[in-house]
Amino acid sequence: MMTQEENNELTQVGPGTPMGAVLRHYWYPVALVSELDEFPVKQARLLGENWAVFKTGDGGYGIVDERCPHRGASMVYGIVEGDGLRCGYHGWKFDTDGTCVDILAEPDSSPVFRADCGIRAGKAQELGGLVWAYLGDGPAPELPRYEAYVMDGVRDIGHCVIPCNWLQIMENAVDPYHVEALHGNYFEFIAEQTGMAMPGSFGGNKHEKVAFDPFEHGIIKRRLLVGQDEESDDWKIGHPLVFPYKMWVGGNGVFQMQIRVPVDDTHTNMMFYTVHAPEGAEIPDDPPCVDYPIEWIRDDGTYIVDYIEGQDIMAWVTQGDVADRTTEKLTKSDVGVVACRRMYRDAVAAVAAGKDPVAVVREPHDVIKLPLERSKFGRGAEFATEWIDNGSMRYSPIAEEMKKLHTDAEARRQQLAAEAEG
Ligand code: FES
Ligand SMILES: [Fe+2]
Repeated sequence: MMTQEENNELTQVGPGTPMGAVLRHYWYPVALVSELDEFPVKQARLLGENWAVFKTGDGGYGIVDERCPHRGASMVYGIVEGDGLRCGYHGWKFDTDGTCVDILAEPDSSPVFRADCGIRAGKAQELGGLVWAYLGDGPAPELPRYEAYVMDGVRDIGHCVIPCNWLQIMENAVDPYHVEALHGNYFEFIAEQTGMAMPGSFGGNKHEKVAFDPFEHGIIKRRLLVGQDEESDDWKIGHPLVFPYKMWVGGNGVFQMQIRVPVDDTHTNMMFYTVHAPEGAEIPDDPPCVDYPIEWIRDDGTYIVDYIEGQDIMAWVTQGDVADRTTEKLTKSDVGVVACRRMYRDAVAAVAAGKDPVAVVREPHDVIKLPLERSKFGRGAEFATEWIDNGSMRYSPIAEEMKKLHTDAEARRQQLAAEAEG
């Protein structure tokens, strides 16, 4: 149980808050590359502040405060011009670093005057089909090139903004027992009630034990299911909460970064960033990278709970816009949640002491590989196809193509295995 002050410190993301200071040490996706190709400027709300993110004429990216320093009009309605953004109202132009470089009505304005007219600017760059922004002070750290963003494969990005605080979603990443309850027993109940088929990969997964190991990118979560031995990938390898706002999951040729961008204290932009790359698959030269909204609530306000992520979203949102941690009752099986809160508190302390918090990457690198089970729950291609049918990917415009990619790859693997034996 926590006091209200402790809960505020862990959950609030705005400028001037302790966790807001921690979170401003990281890069966040603020747009899709495809969105800015379609129209080169859009609004981005991140960590409780509004920004205008834009693609420059030379293919670079910028992000500036939404509010124009002249008289406050929205820069989202500005003109992208060369390497900068010009306010639509009176035509003040700003560079990607925020310098005011031109005032339309005063072409002879003095550089001394303009020097005082800059706009607050972050840094923006592209990776893996997403445009990422860094809004913190000081030299920007490296944008971590996690495997998901750089690997070959078919990319599928489902997204939705949900009305709850980011931290209750992150706590779920270190809460393995919910898989047994929410995606097992509850899913079975819903399947029974509605007459749908229960996916085999999710029912009957009884946990024998769980473990949580802090590491340089977050916390590795491991589980041993009843009937598994300690050599199983689920126990030996596990998968991580990626500090501070992601989880890396997958198996059987599916690789998924679950990205939970803190929009403000009570809204989180969920992105299920999935790469399909099963062994033996023939990935096209220019593989698809699609995005689409996922559905989670009906017009009558009830939640859509007949698929995995819909069940999670129901749980997160019904915990409240900011989960009340002053009245909760933590127990032994919440040990992962405790470990995760400790890591956030340690990060607050590190930043207060002038240090980088965990998972800030300063070293240039090609790729960062994170631990991930390759064989999940001991299953093969049917794990992938069941995930597509019973997860948020069921809303994907390429769901059928992705299933075919997995079943073709499995056939290919079997053929190769038979040839090797024969
Ligand atoms: S408000 Fe932006 S130029 Fe006047
Ligand atoms: Fe879940």
